[in-house]
Amino acid sequence: MCVRPISVDEPAVRPEGSGWIPVCDLSRLKAETIVRVAGLNLLVIWNEGDVVACDRACPHEQADLGLGQVVAGRLLCPRHAASFDLCDGQISAGWPSPPLQLYPVQVRGERVWIEAQERRPGR
Ligand code: FES
Repeated sequence: MCVRPISVDEPAVRPEGSGWIPVCDLSRLKAETIVRVAGLNLLVIWNEGDVVACDRACPHEQADLGLGQVVAGRLLCPRHAASFDLCDGQISAGWPSPPLQLYPVQVRGERVWIEAQERRPGR
């Protein structure tokens, strides 16, 4: 279930020649569920044993999804109560909105990395 989101306090550093960015420790993500990635306007989410990275702005009307909740594999928007499937980004039925943008994720040891340059509609 959801707890209050936190901000990552370390800067997002992109290693030379790489689009992969280290964003937070896995243990921190497991404890907080939703982590805001400073400077990138992205979220990293702990979802039922998996790590998901997505845009922070809701694709419907740009609400801050960092204030939302994660329930049963879905990210609930705090503004209109629509939700997004964290596997493919699709919004719940009946909402006129493109899917939530997801990003590739890797877990290297205890560190979570995001490929922030590449955009994809789902996983
Ligand atoms: S702003 Fe998120 S569902 Fe409307």
